[in-house]
Amino acid sequence: MPEATLHFPPDFRWGCATAAHQVEGDNTNNDWYAWEQGEGHIHSGQKSGLACDWWRNAEADLERAAEMGHTAHRMSVEWSRIEPHEGKWDDAAIDRYRQMLRFMRERDIEPMVTLHHFTTPLWLTERGGWENPQIIPSFERFATKVAEALGEWCDLWCTINEPQVYMTLGWVAGEPRNEMHHQITFPPGKHDLDLGFKVAENLFLGHGAAYYAVHRVQPQARVGCVHNLAYLQPLHPNSPLDKFVVGQRERLLHQSGLEATLNGRIPRLIGSRRVRELANTSDFIGLNYYDRVVLTFDPSIPGALFARQVVLPGAEISDLNYGEVYPEGIYHLLKRVSRYGKPIYITECGLPDADDDRRPAFLITHLRQVWKAAMQNIPVMGFYHWTLVDNFEWAEGWNLRFGLIEVNPETQERKLRRSGELYSEICKTNTLTSDMVQRYTPELMDSLFPG
Ligand code: FCB
Repeated sequence: MPEATLHFPPDFRWGCATAAHQVEGDNTNNDWYAWEQGEGHIHSGQKSGLACDWWRNAEADLERAAEMGHTAHRMSVEWSRIEPHEGKWDDAAIDRYRQMLRFMRERDIEPMVTLHHFTTPLWLTERGGWENPQIIPSFERFATKVAEALGEWCDLWCTINEPQVYMTLGWVAGEPRNEMHHQITFPPGKHDLDLGFKVAENLFLGHGAAYYAVHRVQPQARVGCVHNLAYLQPLHPNSPLDKFVVGQRERLLHQSGLEATLNGRIPRLIGSRRVRELANTSDFIGLNYYDRVVLTFDPSIPGALFARQVVLPGAEISDLNYGEVYPEGIYHLLKRVSRYGKPIYITECGLPDADDDRRPAFLITHLRQVWKAAMQNIPVMGFYHWTLVDNFEWAEGWNLRFGLIEVNPETQERKLRRSGELYSEICKTNTLTSDMVQRYTPELMDSLFPG
């Protein structure tokens, strides 16, 4: 058997990512909680409920992460806990976050904190939330407060998680469901493209305001925005129309966050708006990678900008049609994003796989691509697997299981999955080896380590 060891760069960070609403439990003061109460909004009528009980005991799982050799963790703070009413700060909630961050630091886990991960306090959504530009100064004030309160323990910040996904699923997707996803609608569940563009603009401006706010409090901070990039391909590579719909999707959805937060250019349906202060408001790029999306031109769906998603024969599709597993995509995207000349963190990457029979291969094949990028001097700094523990997966409820650790939400019992053991070996050694491949996914040996 050929023996090989793929070494990751010496300071490479290894960990997982989580989001407040998905793990904390009892978050009752935000738009998602309200949305969960509505009929038909969440798969099988499920609710976040106690989630993973992190508000009371995040430490138990963070301790497991430390034992698994994690050196980093990306989490988010819940705005509606910290500022439950306009301008009223909850010191106990702030202290709770300080405790969590300190707990991580004491175990040599470097925290990365996201300020907005899909949830907005009710007092703001009652005034239109991100549809209303008045949210921008509120978000700026919140960012200032969080940086002041948590800056002792954290200097690596994400402003907004996946602005384009948040905007699309909340303001554009509305109805109907698409073929690839089971049920993906976010609050407020609208279907209004113009409004969607306004929301995106407010999100980008909010990002910029928070970027400067955090830097004013903490000049040494590293602040970035997190972008969800799928690897997009035209069904027919030579078809100008297929290439057109891919280009359009790329420009409006995938590339737009990068263009806004790095070049200060906010794309519109036609053209773009230049906002000088937004240029260069990213010290790093956060890249969330999940899947490949193949598109073809379809004149019958103007509402989807004529882009129909297709599944190629033989494509590997994950649980509940979540998406196509395509490891090479992460390499191509890292390469593309590296053109902006910023450090890149893979802020999320993972697979819904309740049986955990495909996650070991997913980890191995994707990390091999990340390694390849690192070896080509692409400045990829770390990998945050989505996610540590099974959690409340938004509109999909508890039906998509992304955790390295299985969770029974009723009993709160935990069980380390085999993929968790594998990831732990990778984190502890900072390598991916042929021996790991042989033990976890022998079927991949020939393709990954021929000879
Ligand atoms: C990302 C979200 C994260 C989780 C994963 C599966 O788009 O940022 O909260 O839902 O997808």
